[in-house]
Amino acid sequence: MTSKDKQFKKHSQRGRFLALDLGGTNFRVLLIELNDGNFKMESKIFAVPQSIMQGAGHELFDHIAECLSTFAHMQHIEHEVLPLGFTFSFPCSQHGLTEARLTQWTKGFSCSGVEGEDVVKLLEEAIERRGDVKIKVCAVLNDTTGTLMSCAWKNHNTYIGLIIGTGTNACYVERLENVGLWDGDWEEPKQVLINTEWGAFGGGGDLDSVLTEYDRDIDQHSINPGRQLFEKMISGMYLGEVARQLVQKLTKQGLLFGGQGSDALFERGGFFTKYITEVESDAPGDYTNCRMVLEELGIEHATDEDCENLRYVCEVVSRRAAFLVGTGLAVLLNKMDRPSVTVGVDGSVYRYHPHVHRLMCEQISRLVRPGMKFDLMLSEDGSGRGAALVAAVASRTAAT
Ligand code: GLC
Repeated sequence: MTSKDKQFKKHSQRGRFLALDLGGTNFRVLLIELNDGNFKMESKIFAVPQSIMQGAGHELFDHIAECLSTFAHMQHIEHEVLPLGFTFSFPCSQHGLTEARLTQWTKGFSCSGVEGEDVVKLLEEAIERRGDVKIKVCAVLNDTTGTLMSCAWKNHNTYIGLIIGTGTNACYVERLENVGLWDGDWEEPKQVLINTEWGAFGGGGDLDSVLTEYDRDIDQHSINPGRQLFEKMISGMYLGEVARQLVQKLTKQGLLFGGQGSDALFERGGFFTKYITEVESDAPGDYTNCRMVLEELGIEHATDEDCENLRYVCEVVSRRAAFLVGTGLAVLLNKMDRPSVTVGVDGSVYRYHPHVHRLMCEQISRLVRPGMKFDLMLSEDGSGRGAALVAAVASRTAAT
């Protein structure tokens, strides 16, 4: 996408747009009305059951089409052909605004028959199979792109889009002269969005020297061993399990809870990432959330010292994640070499964790060139709004 598209004017995006958002634990359908710089949004969240996440590809797309149809009927728009933006947040090789071939699944998905295929075509075919709704896919995009676009719409200094949610990834604005693979137009201002897919970093062994025994265990038991190692140290799909493994070890060594754990604590996946956020949201010396988490885990005999230690474990895990993301951002900022950059950010870990934002800023400040300015801006529903904005620009460009 050229940055001609990025420099759109608010008043030129009007109308109603559909957005589909697939990439985390849930799938969402959105109807967005853009009018003179204002958004009105209706949306519905649908679960994607594990059987579908790991089943046959056509079943996934049939499920998406069914959710879209349910939503369209609820909104009484089933007879309209609205422009649609499809946020598909997995690594793709993108051949145009409406063609993206899935490179490989990440984040617990493994549907068969999709890798190597154009996901827009699979979506359109599933919708045709049903025959009860019509759509016009105007754009397919990554959630980082949506996040960048939704922030850039408000703040024109946004040049990076970042997600720290179920997975982690960042995209940034690069000068065309630095993009050896570019074979499109060389229109002013000669820039392009690069999706780094940085969650995949470490797959070639580059992180081996810093992986812990817990990281290795999580990787080996994952659906994609040897891949997405950076993501497995940072994102919401994995952080809870990193903390659980540490707590499990300390408990078995008799250093926590008098050596007495619980079934949930000793079960893979039994400690959710949101527990880290909750435990760290207690004021220092207060253990209200911490005790609620322990109760959910079936541990009722914890002392204040146990609570303090559990909090410390959570802090270690989230601080490492924040520092790794901060380091990645500093690398991008130094490479981009702009005097000032706003980073649009979305994702549950960033949004809800009480300290991740501050820790990231500290780490970036330590690593960027002196004098370089940056700020992190929370995106308001980047995946959905961003998809609508891109669909708006794309449908307008197609019409002119
Ligand atoms: C995973 C996906 C990537 C996405 C990120 C955040 O890393 O591969 O495309 O942007 O998760 O959702």
